[in-house]
Amino acid sequence: MSNLSTEKSGNSTVPFPNKKYKIIYADPPWEYGDKLQHHGGSAQSHYDVMKFDDICNLPVGDIADETCFLFLWGTWPLLPESIKLIESWGFEYKTIGFVWLKTYESGKDVFGMGNYTRGNTEFCLIGVKGKPKRVDNNVSQLIKSTIRQHSKKPDIVRDKIIQLCGDLPRIELFARTRVYGWDVWGNDKERGKIIPEAKRRG
Ligand SMILES: C[S@@+](CC[C@H](N)C(=O)[O-])C[C@H]1O[C@@H](n2cnc3c(N)ncnc32)[C@H](O)[C@@H]1O
Repeated sequence: MSNLSTEKSGNSTVPFPNKKYKIIYADPPWEYGDKLQHHGGSAQSHYDVMKFDDICNLPVGDIADETCFLFLWGTWPLLPESIKLIESWGFEYKTIGFVWLKTYESGKDVFGMGNYTRGNTEFCLIGVKGKPKRVDNNVSQLIKSTIRQHSKKPDIVRDKIIQLCGDLPRIELFARTRVYGWDVWGNDKERGKIIPEAKRRG
C-alpha cells in the first residue's frame, strides 16, 4: 500500500495509485439531483453516487502522464458537466469517442424513458492531455450492444480504446470489473476474477 496516495482523493476513501497512465477510462457515479430522476435516479440503489464537485476534485490529473487520453462516460442531461469534468481533471475536450446504441436481448433497440425523445443511447467523450497520437484510424464511434446489469458499459469499449490508442499504461476509474492489462480504481467490492481482454482471447 506504500505506493498509494490518499491525500487528494476528494470524498473517496479509496487511495489513488502513485503511478502515471497514458489512458484513463472513467465511468463516474453521477448524482442527478433534480435532473431527470428517472434517468439516473435508480443509480443510487445500485451503488454510491458522488457530488459533481467531489468527482471534479479527484486527483485524476496526478495520475495522467504528460500525454494522456481520457475516455469519459457522460449522460445526456449532464453533458455540460461532462465537459467541465474533463477540464477540471486537466484535459482538453476533443470529441465524441463512442456512442452506444442500446439493444434488448431480442436485438430490438431499447425504448427508454425521456422528457423529450426516448432514451436508447449513451456516450463516451474523449479528452486529451498533451498531444497523444492515435495508432489506428479504423475505429468507429458507434457501438450496438445489449444492455446488461445497471450502468454496465459494453466490454468492447476497452478493446476499441486499445485499438485506437495502442497498448499503453492504462487505468479504469470507477471500475466494477477487473480486466487483464488494466489497472483499476473504485470502491466496488464485487470485483472478481480478472477477465482477459478480447484481443488476448485468441
Ligand atoms: C457507473 S458505475 C461504473 C460502472 C462500470 N463502468 C461498469 O461498466 O460496470 C460507478 C462506480 O463508481 C463507484 N463509486 C461510487 N462512489 C465512489 C467513490 N466515492 N469512490 C470510488 N468509487 C465510487 C460505484 O460503486 C460504482 O461501482
